[in-house]
Amino acid sequence: MNKEIKTDLAIDQKVESLLAQMTLEEKIGQMTQVRHFDDITPEDINTHFIGSIIHTQGPTPGENAAGWQDKFVQLQKIALSTRLAIPMLFGVDAVHGQNTYAGATIFPHNIGLGAAGNAKLVERAASITALEARATGFNWVFSPCVAIPYNEKWGRVYEAFSESTEITTTLAQASVLGHQGPVGQSPALIATAKHFIGDGSTDFGVEGGNTTLSEEEVFERLLPPYRAAVEAGVGSVMASFNSLNGVPMHAHRKMITDVLKGQLKFDGIVVSDWKAYSRFGGNDVINAGVDVVMAVEGDFHMYVEGVRNGVLSGEISQERIDDAVRRVLKQKFRIGLFDNPFPEATLIPKIGMQAHRTVARQAVRESLVLLKNEDNLLPLKKDARIVVVGEFGNNSGLQSGGWTVNWQGMTENYAGATTILDGFRKFSGQEVLYDPDGAANTDDVEIAVIVVGETPYAEFMGDIGGVMNNYQHTLTEEHQRLIDTYHAKGIKTIVVLISGRPLVVTKQLEQADAFVAAWFPGSEGDGIAEVLYGDYDFKGKLPHSWPKSEEDYQGKYGPNFWDGSIEPLFPLGFGMSYEK
Ligand code: BGC
Repeated sequence: MNKEIKTDLAIDQKVESLLAQMTLEEKIGQMTQVRHFDDITPEDINTHFIGSIIHTQGPTPGENAAGWQDKFVQLQKIALSTRLAIPMLFGVDAVHGQNTYAGATIFPHNIGLGAAGNAKLVERAASITALEARATGFNWVFSPCVAIPYNEKWGRVYEAFSESTEITTTLAQASVLGHQGPVGQSPALIATAKHFIGDGSTDFGVEGGNTTLSEEEVFERLLPPYRAAVEAGVGSVMASFNSLNGVPMHAHRKMITDVLKGQLKFDGIVVSDWKAYSRFGGNDVINAGVDVVMAVEGDFHMYVEGVRNGVLSGEISQERIDDAVRRVLKQKFRIGLFDNPFPEATLIPKIGMQAHRTVARQAVRESLVLLKNEDNLLPLKKDARIVVVGEFGNNSGLQSGGWTVNWQGMTENYAGATTILDGFRKFSGQEVLYDPDGAANTDDVEIAVIVVGETPYAEFMGDIGGVMNNYQHTLTEEHQRLIDTYHAKGIKTIVVLISGRPLVVTKQLEQADAFVAAWFPGSEGDGIAEVLYGDYDFKGKLPHSWPKSEEDYQGKYGPNFWDGSIEPLFPLGFGMSYEK
């Protein structure tokens, strides 16, 4: 304990001595985050003292991990050539593994980890993610998402662990510890609890909409995971796109400054979300307590100038700027960035290594929730003659959801991943047929494993009934046809649902003999067969209550929900297993 306090004091002294030497421009630079490929030229790092870089959708930094590291080394060298030689942070949305890098270990999305409900496993997954993120050159990840989704129309339900505050709190803490290591030890990378606060509880599940909850409800239901993350030492918290009772969260001084930094004693970085400066009121964002802004897609110069003018005109206090910069510098010292500013080349061989995939496969197995198992059709016998049906059954992109290699995910296979069919072929004692579109000759088949689900999406693109309106509350006609086809043939059916949220499948549950909710398993699709063949038992429990109709779906978290007047088809925590 003493040691920890001394270390903190030592860091504080270093921060103060550096801060005392900094010009306003250098301070604003520390508060600036840009993409490595647009808006800026490498010289801007020099002239604007940029404090951090984000990699997200867009050109990759290099052809392979060594290339990614090289790119970040080059950029870091520019930062180190500035007057005060303050190194930069490199951030990435590694939300289910280092998912921006094809070939990394991709874990089930958080909703699957919420179903598994295994804190130790979440911690291991997070530590592997952190390691693979560092191996590709990063020292900051924008994860975990600790949202509490209150409406399945929201396109980001799967980024969150559960609708339960308790489950989310436990797993949020485990995830932060996994990413950063034990409290009191120096982490090698910064984790981010996001999106503060109310992202998942907007009215009608609209991404970035308005959350209508009383202060008491916010404190009771939504704040506990943040408290847990802060106690676990989380280095940053990201502000959210939504408003809270009409006030944009990026401009919510009370929640950011008084509650998060004050009451919760969060001493890390509050980072903005995408383009927040131009979207949420310019200097109001800084005055609310945001320390670092993602000044991307055309915002960069306007942001730097705007903050500068704000300080010169007295709109932003010098104190506010100093608070922001202190927080950034503190995290940089805390992860040892001044001593070790460059990525470690020795980590590269660890990307996607077997030991990591073994943990991801365990997560896949534990995330599966058995919703129906008529006449004990499962576990399958290894000599059963089966057919795997549907494109989702043999496509690692489709099984992985958004934030997989690309922002909106993939619809093709990606490097290093196995498909669901691969698993059946690996673990069956028989030849396994594959019927991508329901047209195959299946005369010899006893059982069909029909894989259906949601095509990958991310953020507002996945809102049901949202601006894009690409998604619906139930299966597509094409997927329904696959189930109908096999149902009509009189072949026993097991439906495996790949989805980022509970869908309304009341009818499909009646048609199927067995039904498994598999969420978005990620790169280790072959783990599903291990459970269906009975080598492992089902462990997953629903992290969300499951709506029975579209009406429930609409109103689930309307005013009636909390008084219990909507009865779900399956309650939170439901999940069958082989063991009686
Ligand atoms: C998302 C964040 C993400 C950020 C950076 C935003 O659109 O809301 O979750 O971290 O982009 O890619």
